[in-house]
Amino acid sequence: MYIIRGGETLYGKIRVQGSKNSSLPILAASILNGRKNTIRDVPKIKDIDVMTEILSYLGADIVRDNNLMVVDSGNVNCSDVPEHLMREMRSSIVLMGALLGRFGKAKVSYPGGCEIGPRPIDLHLKGLAQMGVEFSEGHGFIYAKTDKLRGADIHLDFPSVGATENIMLAGVLAQGTTIIRNVAKEPEIVDLQNFLNRMGAKIKGAGTDTIKVEGCKIDDLKQVEDYTIIPDRIAAGTYLVAAAITNGHIWLTNVIGEHVEPILAKLREMGCMINCSNNVIELYVDKPLKSLDSLRTLPYPGFPTDMQAPMMALLSTVEGTSILVETVFENRFKHAQELRRMGANISINGNTAIIKGVDKLTGAMVEAKDLRAGAALIIAALAAEGETHVEGVCHIERGYENIEDNLTALGAEIVKKY
Ligand code: UD1
Repeated sequence: MYIIRGGETLYGKIRVQGSKNSSLPILAASILNGRKNTIRDVPKIKDIDVMTEILSYLGADIVRDNNLMVVDSGNVNCSDVPEHLMREMRSSIVLMGALLGRFGKAKVSYPGGCEIGPRPIDLHLKGLAQMGVEFSEGHGFIYAKTDKLRGADIHLDFPSVGATENIMLAGVLAQGTTIIRNVAKEPEIVDLQNFLNRMGAKIKGAGTDTIKVEGCKIDDLKQVEDYTIIPDRIAAGTYLVAAAITNGHIWLTNVIGEHVEPILAKLREMGCMINCSNNVIELYVDKPLKSLDSLRTLPYPGFPTDMQAPMMALLSTVEGTSILVETVFENRFKHAQELRRMGANISINGNTAIIKGVDKLTGAMVEAKDLRAGAALIIAALAAEGETHVEGVCHIERGYENIEDNLTALGAEIVKKY
């Protein structure tokens, strides 16, 4: 658990980690070329450990040195993702597109539900079926196979990040052109396109509503000599909110201002002072913050659902009533009940949370049930009176690299106890 003594004002400078949500599909993409790929700024977090273990199991040779990863997929010869590892990380479903591209088949276990809602994969399967993939299911597994992966014109019912990535990955080695419409426009999709194009793929349109992938042959693909993952916009947002709740003053390096703008816009509206220049963001608070009449989570460039829980913690301490609507995931309010244990005044009605700011939060024993809920509890604890024990460290370590060291460097009192 993390033990946090609240009340310290965060001050100082930290570097933001590389993006978790870019690294995962990019590591999956390194299966496609059967060559050696050198990737920098891969965060040292549990989700990447799991992806590394899966790739090794499939036959990849991996060298990991701090944030550098060299993935040689020349010896990958297996297309069955082991069930116990798939269960540890739902997003390993993104391997399906890459394995289908390379081998024409894949066996993955059904990802099932998770703490933030049912998270179905129907859009992944529908899109891949249009490309000639046949699916069968049994004993909790999905068997996917195709004699010939072919390009198709696919319209996603919803701009799903994972479905966009899976279909892009499958399109790289498909015969003909794949057009994907109503795609996710998240910066991580652009990062995946950039990585694949460095490999020799022909992809256009990431960051817009439509992506076009011209299929090629594996021999057309080359090794990726040196690729650097983009900064993690959600980790950046988390530290900014942590600073805001303590009336702090911080500088983040290794951030892309445009990627965090949807978060900055809301923090500015609350009264945070923010300056951005040359991949550095400065945030400080010099007056009481204001509540938000309306905060809706939306696909990028809307406000990210992954920042909803941290913002709920912050809004709990701000005078006035805030309304927060979660439109991306069902059932993503489990942190509200833990925040209530710390004295927050939050009521939930369907996908809407009504947060009435309280004078102070108080330390309590709380449990993180998912990654971003964990971040929210740490943030609340930083401002709470007394000591908070946050259980569920394993969820937090799925996505945050050295969170306790970073917060300690900024002046927080936080220790991890086993
Ligand atoms: C990714 C991110 C996650 C982020 C989310 C939304 C990674 C590893 N994870 O998750 O951090 O919170 O995007 O920004 O990148 N849906 C369907 N059918 C599908 C696929 C999705 O109904 O086939 C629904 C989901 O249940 C959810 C919504 O679409 O309600 C968004 O999901 P999606 O964009 O696919 O999120 P992930 O890729 O799982």
